[in-house]
Amino acid sequence: MVIKSAVLDIVCGITSKIPDTGLPEVAFAGKSNVGKSSLINGLMNRKALARTSAQPGKTQTINFYKINDELDLVDLPGYGYARVTPAEKEKWGKMIENYLHTSHNLKAVFLLIDIRHDPSANDRQMYEWILHNGYEPIIIATKLDKLKRSQVQKNLKAIREGLQLRKGTTVIPYSAETKQGRDEIWELIESLTGG
Ligand code: GTP
Ligand code: MG
Repeated sequence: MVIKSAVLDIVCGITSKIPDTGLPEVAFAGKSNVGKSSLINGLMNRKALARTSAQPGKTQTINFYKINDELDLVDLPGYGYARVTPAEKEKWGKMIENYLHTSHNLKAVFLLIDIRHDPSANDRQMYEWILHNGYEPIIIATKLDKLKRSQVQKNLKAIREGLQLRKGTTVIPYSAETKQGRDEIWELIESLTGG
């Protein structure tokens, strides 16, 4: 994909209605700090259009990034962030669930898992939500650069088993540092959004 333009188009807060942009969209879900915003920046070839932070809980809204007036990349708030109250956690969960329920344009959900860690109960629930709402889940194993090369296959297998992925589910390792995996992710997005 040649990025001609990338803009933060819509910011959707807890009380906002989910927008209908009329453009196909793919969404990025995952635990807080897993690297959703960094991946979106990498895909857009922008350093900091999506705000990232070493502190978890950076993205607290649903952010729509419009690419080439063709499609939207949707940055979802991270879950599993320890330093929020249970009430806030529930609000975020509802926001994500509501989005999965009501989006008219969503083509697929990318679920990001840190390649160094086994999936959590929250990750498994997110995977279930994706399936339950009828979307194709695509797993991105993030922070590939943080792992010794000799560990990669073992950890990918642990992610497959931890999420009990269905046969044929795509898992793509990605590094925001080296951009390894970027082209493969774009190919998939283009095929999913008909571009
Ligand atoms: P929330 O918005 O809090 O849900 O987090 P997020 O999933 O958007 O994570 P974000 O992209 O803000 O990244 C969190 C931290 O991880 C930042 O310090 C990033 O620089 C770092 N990070 C993200 N991806 C990678 C990666 O592939 N490799 C390395 N080494 N660090 C990464
Ligand atoms: Mg973020």
